[in-house]
Amino acid sequence: MFRRYGRIVRERALWNFPVVSLLERRDIEKVLKHQSKFPLRPPTEVLAWYRQSRPDRYTTLGLVNEQGEKWHMLRSVLTPELTSAKTILRFLPELNQVIEDFISVLRTTRDKRDVVSGFEESVNRMGLESTCTLILGRRMGFLEREVDALANRLAAAVKGHFRASRDTFYGLPFWKVIPTRSYKLLVKSEEEIYDIVSDLVESALKEERDSCAMDAVNSIFMSVLKAPGLDIREKKAAIIDFIASGMQTLGNTLVFVLYLIAKNPRVQERLYEEILQVAPGRCPLTAETIRRANYLQACVMEAFRVLPVAPCVARILESDMELSGYVVSAGTVVLCHTWLACQEEANFTAAQEFLPERWLQKGEMTRTSPFLVVPFGCGRRICPGKRFVEQELHLAVAKIVREFHVDFEGELQIQFEFLLSPKAPTNFIFHDRMN
Ligand code: HEM
Repeated sequence: MFRRYGRIVRERALWNFPVVSLLERRDIEKVLKHQSKFPLRPPTEVLAWYRQSRPDRYTTLGLVNEQGEKWHMLRSVLTPELTSAKTILRFLPELNQVIEDFISVLRTTRDKRDVVSGFEESVNRMGLESTCTLILGRRMGFLEREVDALANRLAAAVKGHFRASRDTFYGLPFWKVIPTRSYKLLVKSEEEIYDIVSDLVESALKEERDSCAMDAVNSIFMSVLKAPGLDIREKKAAIIDFIASGMQTLGNTLVFVLYLIAKNPRVQERLYEEILQVAPGRCPLTAETIRRANYLQACVMEAFRVLPVAPCVARILESDMELSGYVVSAGTVVLCHTWLACQEEANFTAAQEFLPERWLQKGEMTRTSPFLVVPFGCGRRICPGKRFVEQELHLAVAKIVREFHVDFEGELQIQFEFLLSPKAPTNFIFHDRMN
């Protein structure tokens, strides 16, 4: 598209609605730097449509899809615990355990050549397990050999939700007129997730009502349940949104980071040496270990530049803005193609190479392009899961690289499924390290 039409492209989407795509760094920075009290991000239309059809279950469109004052109110009451550095730090022992369990799954699913076929399945289970532990305050057992029926139902429903969101996204929204197959799948999975979350919420409320103690593991769940001024429907919707946001994003990202490390042996060896230095043998990985592992942080950051799960950041312009010499009017949906901009030589030297060193100055992490490498978005609508995700990725990559020499069979194929996703099956090879 950009090759054909230039660095700013206007398309007429459904019902003549203008959508402008940006590739030019200056334009992207201008849009993302724009200060706004209530930044507008275009909602996922099908979810908004479905939620509006169920006032018995939803009073708003939820944190992800709501706008303006309503969004601001939800954000202020629902996310402080999730974004708190203290909360995420206290969650580290639990997260360590989830990752240990994940490593055990890898060991047991390896074949004789140490290949884990369909790695993406296991990694998505890990993403769901860690997100649920964080948000629901309890282990769900997605990583156990015998996954229990409830966990299986939830995993299948979250998968269905993503597939249906993707399939209803393209083409004309016939589902507004008659319920298409994809729309029915969306409704079915939304209802399933809602019923499961609802049961968990109700039982937590019944058992522990006023006396419920906040501890490291259930503090986010309890903070949502105790959020002031919100209807119970809103609280359940928030929990659903958190779980759905975390599952596939986390899994896909871990596939991408490990793939890039596997395909760059020099990077893998330097990373392994760093980890041995900061956490030798089998000594536990702590927040301090991660803080000192600068190369590890640089590897994750570079992976976000090369293969981010969210390839662009979307906004609705709140006022007219001049972009590449054109006046783009207020109300236009603007897609900032940060991923493509990150692959341009003008923005990053040796842009096609995986070079974590580019993020280090005298061995310390630096951030040189805050508005181009924005895996979690930016400004007031930035992903509230960022701190948790970074902690999880650093911990998981450090543990895996300390335990295994990682390799990958063939080349990774990528597809755009709403998010950037690896095409299944992904076959990783995990050789035990001899330490
Ligand atoms: C690798 C993992 C993840 C990535 C790459 C990611 C990325 C993003 C991005 C790009 C946005 C849009 C930000 C913007 O418009 O500026 C977003 C929003 C959001 N994310 Fe994440 N996310 C991840 C994991 C999570 C997790 C684990 C949670 C919850 C525990 C979460 C909850 C949310 C929510 C609720 C929003 C909407 C925020 C708002 O509109 O105020 N995400 N995420």
